[in-house]
Amino acid sequence: MITDRFKWGPMGWILVLAVVVGAWPALVLGQVGESVGEGMVRYHASASARDGALPSLCLVAPLDSLGPVPEEWAVVPEFTRIQGRTSVFLTIDEGTDLYGTGEVPGPLRRNGTRTVAWNFDAYGWGAGAPNLYQSHPWVLAVRADGTSYGVIADTPNRCLIDLQLGIRFEADGQEFPVIIIEGATPQDVVRSLGQLTGTMPLPPRWALGYHQCRYSYTPDDRVREIADGFREREIPCDVIWYDIDYMDENRCFSIDTWSFPDMRGLNAELHEKGFHTVAIIDPGIKQEYGYHVYDSGDAIDAWVQNRSGSPYVGSVWPGRCVFPDFTMGQVREWWGGLYGQFLSLGIDGIWNDMNEPAVFNVDAKTMPRSNRHRADPELGGPGTHARFHNVYGMLMARATWEGVQRVRPNQRPFVLSRANHLGGQRWAACWTGDNSASWAHVDYSVSMVLNLGLSGQPMSGPDIGGFVGVGTGEMFARWMGIGALQPFARGHTGKGNIDKEPWAFGSDVEKTCQVALQRRYRLLPYLYSLMREAAETGLPPVRPLFFLDPADPALRAEDDSFLLGDDLLVACNTWPGEKPVPVLPAGNWVKVSLVDGDLDDPDLPDLYLREGAILPLGPIMQWSDEKPLDELELLVNPGPDGRAVGYLYEDDGDGYGYREGAYRVTEFVVSGPGESVQVKVMEGDWEPGVWLVVPRDISK
Ligand code: NOJ
Repeated sequence: MITDRFKWGPMGWILVLAVVVGAWPALVLGQVGESVGEGMVRYHASASARDGALPSLCLVAPLDSLGPVPEEWAVVPEFTRIQGRTSVFLTIDEGTDLYGTGEVPGPLRRNGTRTVAWNFDAYGWGAGAPNLYQSHPWVLAVRADGTSYGVIADTPNRCLIDLQLGIRFEADGQEFPVIIIEGATPQDVVRSLGQLTGTMPLPPRWALGYHQCRYSYTPDDRVREIADGFREREIPCDVIWYDIDYMDENRCFSIDTWSFPDMRGLNAELHEKGFHTVAIIDPGIKQEYGYHVYDSGDAIDAWVQNRSGSPYVGSVWPGRCVFPDFTMGQVREWWGGLYGQFLSLGIDGIWNDMNEPAVFNVDAKTMPRSNRHRADPELGGPGTHARFHNVYGMLMARATWEGVQRVRPNQRPFVLSRANHLGGQRWAACWTGDNSASWAHVDYSVSMVLNLGLSGQPMSGPDIGGFVGVGTGEMFARWMGIGALQPFARGHTGKGNIDKEPWAFGSDVEKTCQVALQRRYRLLPYLYSLMREAAETGLPPVRPLFFLDPADPALRAEDDSFLLGDDLLVACNTWPGEKPVPVLPAGNWVKVSLVDGDLDDPDLPDLYLREGAILPLGPIMQWSDEKPLDELELLVNPGPDGRAVGYLYEDDGDGYGYREGAYRVTEFVVSGPGESVQVKVMEGDWEPGVWLVVPRDISK
């Protein structure tokens, strides 16, 4: 049964008054609610809106109605229709803090902000940017008592998220429902978000290593020089990236054989040295007869159409381009098939860029909203670009992920996408686009990764060092110190910019970068365990401090520090000058050293281990599979009762054996004062051998 309710809230009266005085034609709607899961309720604007609703484009699966809204349900929205837009308002109680909203610059706490969910090529974006490359119409609310709820505006359309007076979503197009999730803690709500919109599949372990990119490393000898630069200097690195200049005049799925005469051989050499490679692929396909991608796409009529039904043509890197219509399964299948030959060159991962989609020389920087997509029925059938714009990048990433998986069924795909949408973590990790080499951007990088994590995307990171502009050595060192502890760690910079490899700013900065990355590699067993948790539950590896005590007001706005898992606190210094005194949550957090010299380096963030935690550390390695994990150092910080606990997840690092039990979850326990560490296998039947365990009691 479904509750039909007509409700006059204060907003309703204000709007009616506005209509009476002729301020704007607003229609207050009576919402209908239904239970859709444990602690989850969906509200539609009206019974007719519910009956005519289009399929959700962010949920893993359609949600069935499970009956009426529970009696005690507290969070009830008010719907109004204003000038062809739906507005949904939810009041918030005093002391409620708001988070989420996806990829946004500025502070972690989002109260008072206005964000627009509209994927946008935001080159050189700054503090006031209302919309960046990704759209997450989602808000996480934490009440004064630490209980929490979250609200999904289930619409792919352009959507304003206005948090100035409460929570208000306003979106173009058809009336949309909201899904409200209640939880005892914010962690519960984030886990439920993962259940509804999906979790990121476990990436291959190499993707958790350090990545080096620039626009662009070319020709092949420059790539070799960069790779050798890492190995000679003993600076850990797993991945070298190919930006667009590897292509033949920017044609996707082609190689500039002048600069890369033997791409397969080059990749084999890199693999020999322990590197993986990732290559960029954009959606804009050069409109040119005789080019295999254009011809084969044209043969299946793959392109997004303009309002008159002809292929839409827009200008991107290769000049006049057409754009695959990823809303059609047949087109995604064709696109995925293009990766077969391409990956056979020894390319390991794919970087989807410009997929807002970006179009040059038009004010909107994207295709017209009146363009036509011939979407499959499961996506709601044909519609305009206004409906599919925000999911274009997500569907491209999906086509890529599925194609790569088909080519290599026994390996885990790794895809990075610039544009994406709520739920898109199922197919791609994220970087925060064309940032700038400024202190403000070092600062944003922390809160952005946190809010992306609270919006369902566990694997994100900035262009370490800044894409636009030069910066200073001090800034670069600081950025590497922080970026090395975020889930996706990649250095990148723009065309024509100065070099930004870890050694580009002289020997002192190089040393800091080396230690920063050695720390990351020592933490890989822990980071990998956290990625496994993210894949299983949706909880991100990088977490806000308020997760430790959601009712503590002192932690609610803290975004100079973050938690890696529950046990390690990273106290960042994102501005020039001395390290600030970190906010430490209750308990005995002990400062720890992971690598010789890290405690004395003023440019590296300080790390603190939680009381009662055991942190497993692996060896320093030059790449993630250089050595077997046969020795573990365990940092032990016993609680007041002398107890400490830690966990470790292990598997092969790639492939799907873990789904058949080829993994191991181990628990480490110190049960009281003076006790030694007990090691207990909790799950899995993977037996790669035992490690030598070296405990270090850091409380002494
Ligand atoms: C725009 C991307 O944001 C940037 O990272 C990349 O280097 C350029 N496109 C060139 O491909």
